[in-house]
Amino acid sequence: MSKLTQLPAWNALWQHFAEAKQLHMRELFETDPQRAERYSLEVGGLFLDYSKNRLTDDTLKGLMQLAREAGLPARIKAMFKGEKINSTENRAVLHVALRNRTNSPILVDGEDVMPKVNSVLARMGKFAHAVRSGEWLGYTHQPITDVVNIGIGGSDLGPLMVCSALKPYGHPRMNMHFVSNVDGAQLKETLKKVHPETTLFVVESKTFTTQETLTNALTAREWFVSRARDEKAVAKHFVAVSTNKKAVAEFGIDPANMFEFWDWVGGRYSLWSAIGLPIMLYLGEENFTELLNGAHIMDQHFYNASYEENMPVLLAMIGIWYINYYGGGSHVIAPYDQYLHRLPAFIQQLDMESNGKKVCVDGSTVNFETAPIIWGETGINGQHAFFQLLHQGTHISPIDLICSLENRTSLPGHHEILLANVFAQAEAFMRGKTADEVRAELAAQGLEGEALEALVPHKVFDGNRPTNTLLMDRLDPRNLGSLIALYEHKIFVQGVIWGINSFDQWGVELGKQLAKTIHAELAGKLASAPHDSSTKLLIERYRRANRN
Ligand code: F6P
Repeated sequence: MSKLTQLPAWNALWQHFAEAKQLHMRELFETDPQRAERYSLEVGGLFLDYSKNRLTDDTLKGLMQLAREAGLPARIKAMFKGEKINSTENRAVLHVALRNRTNSPILVDGEDVMPKVNSVLARMGKFAHAVRSGEWLGYTHQPITDVVNIGIGGSDLGPLMVCSALKPYGHPRMNMHFVSNVDGAQLKETLKKVHPETTLFVVESKTFTTQETLTNALTAREWFVSRARDEKAVAKHFVAVSTNKKAVAEFGIDPANMFEFWDWVGGRYSLWSAIGLPIMLYLGEENFTELLNGAHIMDQHFYNASYEENMPVLLAMIGIWYINYYGGGSHVIAPYDQYLHRLPAFIQQLDMESNGKKVCVDGSTVNFETAPIIWGETGINGQHAFFQLLHQGTHISPIDLICSLENRTSLPGHHEILLANVFAQAEAFMRGKTADEVRAELAAQGLEGEALEALVPHKVFDGNRPTNTLLMDRLDPRNLGSLIALYEHKIFVQGVIWGINSFDQWGVELGKQLAKTIHAELAGKLASAPHDSSTKLLIERYRRANRN
C-alpha cells in the first residue's frame, strides 16, 4: 500500500471533506467579501484567481500540511540541486538549470552543468543570428525563408506551441513548419509549400532513434538531395538537435551542425534547451532569453515562496483536492487566446506523460487516482462545443481559464467580447442558476403553470463548478515562460504527493516494441509472427488491400 494514504494529513483531509463537500461556493462568496482578495496572487506578469474553488481556509491548511508530510520541501531541494530524482533512469532532472539566469553552479556527478548550458545557448544564438540576418545562405546563396522542424512529442509540441503563441514576435521573413506525424501526408503537404534553396530542416530528437522522426527526416533529406543534386548542400540545409552525437553522424548530419543537450533534460521539459532552436530562429535570441527569464522568475518563486503563497504548489494541491477527494479525473485547459491554441496539447503531454502512472517510486502500487485526463481547446470555441457538459453534465472537471489582459490585435471590439466571456464563464460555473431564478426568468417571459414547471429542471445550473482564472498582463515571451514553468512545477508537486516518478515514460515502450514486428510483417520482411486472432485479422486485411 502507498505511504500517502497512511499520512495523518491525508486522513484529516478526508474528515474535513465530509463537511466541505456540502459547501456551495455561492455561500462562501456571500459570507466572505474578501474571498477573491485572499485567494488570489501575482507572480511576475501572471495573476491567479483561485477563489472560485470548493475550498476554505481549513481545506488549504490541510492540503499544505499534506504537502509537507509527503516530503515536498526535500524533493524541491533535491530537484534544484541536481540529485538523480528520475530514479528509474538514474538521471537528474534539471530543466531549471537551462533557465538558471543567476548562473549559480548546479552539479551533476560533481560537474557544474552551467558552462555547458551557456556554451550551447551561445552557439544557438550565433546560428540563429546568422540565419535571421541572412548571413547564413542556402546552396544557391539565398537567405533562409522557411524552417521545417522535424520531431515528435517533446521535440515538437514545445517549439510548436511557443512559436504559435508568440507569432507577433516572429521574424517577418521566416515561415515556421512543424512535421511530427509519420503519416506522409503532413510532410508531403509541407514540402509543397517550401523551396529547397531557402529551407532549413531542423531534425529534433533527444534519442535520435524515434522511428517517426527518422523516417520523416530521411524522406526530407531525399527530397532535398534530389533537387539540390549535391550531397554537400545538405550541410547548409540540415541541422540536428540531440543528445546522441553518434546517431546524428550515422544519419548523415555533420556533428558540426548538431546542437547538444543532455540526458537530464526530459523530452517534455526540453523547449528551454537546444530543442528551443526553432523558437530562437523565429523569435531571436533576445526573445528566447526573455522566455528563459520568465521561467526563472517562476522557478525562484516556486523555490522560495511559502506554500500558502506559492502559485505552483497552490494549483497542484487544489488539483489533488479534486482528483483524490472529489474523484474528479479530468482537467480542462481553456486558453481564451487564439495564439495559445496549442497550449492544451502541450500541457496534455506534460501532465499525462509525467504523472500517468500507478506505480510509486518504491515499487508499490497506488490505491488512489493520479494524473487527470487533460483536455481542452480555445475557451471560446469550447463554449460552443463541450462547455454544455461542463455546466450541466455529471462530471466535475476543474477548468483553467487563461487569457491576456492586453489586446494584441488592432481589431476593435474583439478583446472586450473575449474577456467578457472569460469572466462570465467563471461566474456561471461558480454561481450556477437556482430553480427559483429560473422560475422568475420564465415568468418574466410570460410562461406559467405546467409549461413553466416542465422547463425548470432543464434550465437549472447547479454551479459550484471549479475554475482557476489566470490573467497574463500580456502574452509576451517572459510571461509565457512563467506560465509554462508554472505548469511544469504544478505537475512535479502532484507527482511528489503521489510518490511517483514524473520523469520517465515507460508506458510508451510496449506499443513501440510491437510495432517493430508488425512493421516487418506489413513490409513483407517477416512472413508472420505470433499474434491474437484480432491482430492477425487486421494484418491480413492490410495485406489484402495492399497486394499488388
Ligand atoms: O515516446 C515518447 C517520447 O519518448 C517522448 O517522451 C518524447 O518527447 C518523444 O517520444 C520524442 O522522443 P525523441 O526526442 O527522443 O525523438
